[in-house]
Amino acid sequence: LDNGLSRTPPMGWIDWERFRCNVDCNNDPNNCIGEKLFRDMIDRIAADGYKDVGYEYVNLDDCWMSHERDENNRLTANSTRFPNGIKSLADYAHSKGLKLGIYEDYGLLTCAGYPGSLNYMDIDAQTFADWGIDYLKFDGCYSLPWTMNKGYPEMTRALNKTGRPIVFSCEWPFHQQKASIKPNYKLIRKNCNSWRNFKDVQDSWDSVMKIIDFYTKEQDTLIAAAGPGGWNDPDMLIIGDFGLSYDQSKSQMAMWSIFAAPLMMSTDLRTISDEAKEILLNKEVIAVDQDALGKMGRRVISRGSVDVWSRPLVNGSYAVVFFNKGSDGGPSNVTVTLEEIGFTTTVQKYALRDLFLHRFLGNYDVRGTFETSINPTGVVMVTASPVKINKYRTTNFWFHC
Ligand code: DGJ
Repeated sequence: LDNGLSRTPPMGWIDWERFRCNVDCNNDPNNCIGEKLFRDMIDRIAADGYKDVGYEYVNLDDCWMSHERDENNRLTANSTRFPNGIKSLADYAHSKGLKLGIYEDYGLLTCAGYPGSLNYMDIDAQTFADWGIDYLKFDGCYSLPWTMNKGYPEMTRALNKTGRPIVFSCEWPFHQQKASIKPNYKLIRKNCNSWRNFKDVQDSWDSVMKIIDFYTKEQDTLIAAAGPGGWNDPDMLIIGDFGLSYDQSKSQMAMWSIFAAPLMMSTDLRTISDEAKEILLNKEVIAVDQDALGKMGRRVISRGSVDVWSRPLVNGSYAVVFFNKGSDGGPSNVTVTLEEIGFTTTVQKYALRDLFLHRFLGNYDVRGTFETSINPTGVVMVTASPVKINKYRTTNFWFHC
């Protein structure tokens, strides 16, 4: 969507995967979908280094609303759980240099049964703009997927009409795919800043693997769809939750970054482990995700249990992920030439750097080999940058003169 927003994939936090539709603020005041949870997360993102590395949007998912629209058909927040309303939460986020996102649904009801935007798109867009909302996630429950090609763009127009810059995140292709309709990615890209195309992530490695498998199978379509202003969204990061090992957490971070995916954390930042936090704050991996060229990576080699993914970056560099899908036995070794990964051979040498070890690995000839060892369900992630050879210092110096 050409609205000047999300020129690189959006980064932030969203409650859904970790906190779901917990509306029991009486018994669980710290974890229910209410003001306190979001204020706590805004505080943690601002104070604990997340904002400094690019996490910016703090997003409400489903279950923030009251069940009734007001007398002017405007949406209202549940007043027990959000006693000060959404505008004051947005003001609070803005006061900390962050942004606030919200959730609605294209259909009659949200997935959890709250009022949807069907027939109210203009009013809802204006309400969000009045509250100072910066990001809208637009779900697709209780709707007819074959009407989406016409219906989703209505919300794009309604948001645009408000004059407020609001990132528009769609679930349009996911709901169409479920109904066996082939998504029109050209149209989706024209109308959305990001789009979910596969099932919800759950707190397990199995769920993350299913998403990666889908992205692998569909890579030609997905690579063509993504670029500055519009991104494929494989769903939230579950790093810091209960389902992933240390290696698997690094794998999700690496794969999402090679996909040029939105990096939306869904974890409790008040209690997160140092290990998980370090992964989420890895600036070198984030720099790959946020690379200005905005090209989604491609799986270029599949050898035994190891897949090699490569993503071109600005200035002729590449990011490469060696991903070991195997979970039996120990680490797997793989040997590749940079040429077979697809690096341009007009460059003779590349400088390789390991993004999790934060270490320079050496200069490698483009036709020479690179060997590495990858833990089960783990990754090795490197960047490769062309080594500049100064023409005038080569042996044929006099010839050039
Ligand atoms: C389905 C979406 O895919 C999830 O990410 C979440 O927003 C839920 N709906 C909320 O009901």
